[in-house]
Amino acid sequence: MTTITLSAARRLRGTIAVPGDKSISHRAIIFNAIAEGNARISHFLTGADCLSTIRCVEALGVRVERTGDEVRIFGRGLRGLRAPAGVLDCGNSGTTIRLLTGLLAGQAFSTTLTGDASLQRRPMRRVIKPLRQLGAVVEGTGDGYAPLMIYGQPLHGGSYDLPVASAQVKSALLLAGLLGDAPLILTGQLASRDHTERLFTAMGLDIKVAADRITLFPPSHPVFPYPVSLRVPGDPSSAAFWWVAAAIHPDAEITTTGVCLNPTRTGALDVLRAMGAQIAITNRGQAGEEPTGDVTVRGAGLRGLRIDGPLIPRLIDELPVLAVAAAHAVGETVIADAAELRVKESDRIATVVRELRAMGAPIDPTVDGLIIGGGGELHGAPVHSHGDHRLAMALAVAALTAEGTTVINDAGAADVSYPAFWEDVQSLIGT
Ligand code: S3P
Repeated sequence: MTTITLSAARRLRGTIAVPGDKSISHRAIIFNAIAEGNARISHFLTGADCLSTIRCVEALGVRVERTGDEVRIFGRGLRGLRAPAGVLDCGNSGTTIRLLTGLLAGQAFSTTLTGDASLQRRPMRRVIKPLRQLGAVVEGTGDGYAPLMIYGQPLHGGSYDLPVASAQVKSALLLAGLLGDAPLILTGQLASRDHTERLFTAMGLDIKVAADRITLFPPSHPVFPYPVSLRVPGDPSSAAFWWVAAAIHPDAEITTTGVCLNPTRTGALDVLRAMGAQIAITNRGQAGEEPTGDVTVRGAGLRGLRIDGPLIPRLIDELPVLAVAAAHAVGETVIADAAELRVKESDRIATVVRELRAMGAPIDPTVDGLIIGGGGELHGAPVHSHGDHRLAMALAVAALTAEGTTVINDAGAADVSYPAFWEDVQSLIGT
């Protein structure tokens, strides 16, 4: 297990080309695997999670050629996947297991999906239950945990009211809906990242998206889905580490380039701006179906605030590092309506409290969030990532302004979504 030792940086300056977005990289592979033709994906995220997705689709008979962050994928059509020889290992990746469960539920063969110890503790009932309503036969262990046995079946259409704002659940259902015999209608908590909806539209699929309803018509002609070649935009969830690092450091200016600025993903920018950070967005453009831009953040005094309600799905993965920002703000920050944090790669309410307390932050857990006292001068300490990539990186950001030395145990967890993270830390400290 990798251990990284960090001390406070005197200044933080530089430009970081943010790695490809994790959510879009997964989707680019899974959706093109069932396309009628071949696609090229550039700036693909080579983190461990997305490599798990590639290995799974290869085991389903799909040819994938990868050179660095360039990927060619040879789609086999909606019904062209092959039964895998063994169990598919999704590693640490919730997106891989949940989206593949939806896709495989309607195939003409059976599959078993599993993952690492963390993934085996994450709730899968949220996909099993609605998929069963569409006719799927999916069995988990206990109350719905991986390994998942998926007995491929003809599926029907239907409607489902999403009780949790989860893009993984929404996407799993839309993938299953492609193989239904009638339209699929989704209502309820639809306001989560919408990369699936954007890519389905680009692939020529008949999907109608309204604020309160998504309707998907299964393709009636075998030319669909079209393959979609794209450049993956930079991941705002990775860029957020640098936004917070710059916002809390007294002598900092960091530019993150080519970041996905899809409004379903930019909650952390809105919060940091409201806390008082100086943020400039330049070079606005487009990568694939997504708006992009360069984001420059400068250090400034931050104020605490309340983060809750519809903001939460727009920044759920950024909450560990936003807790670090809050610990440096003047006044209290309250994070609420974020019970989903408890079922991420770790129980992020418990692990963030435990590790930031070790660094001296006045932080308390609530049932569905955090209360952070603010005004804190953090100090270095031995801390642990709990095998959670976002916690490893949030602790590194805390270490860059903390007094003394911080030792981050199991820091290699960052590889899941940001393999070059520690090199980028060095480049910012060194310039
Ligand atoms: C993701 C959706 C979110 C997010 C995860 C990636 C996706 O999870 O936390 O990192 O790619 O769809 P939920 O769908 O569970 O909210």
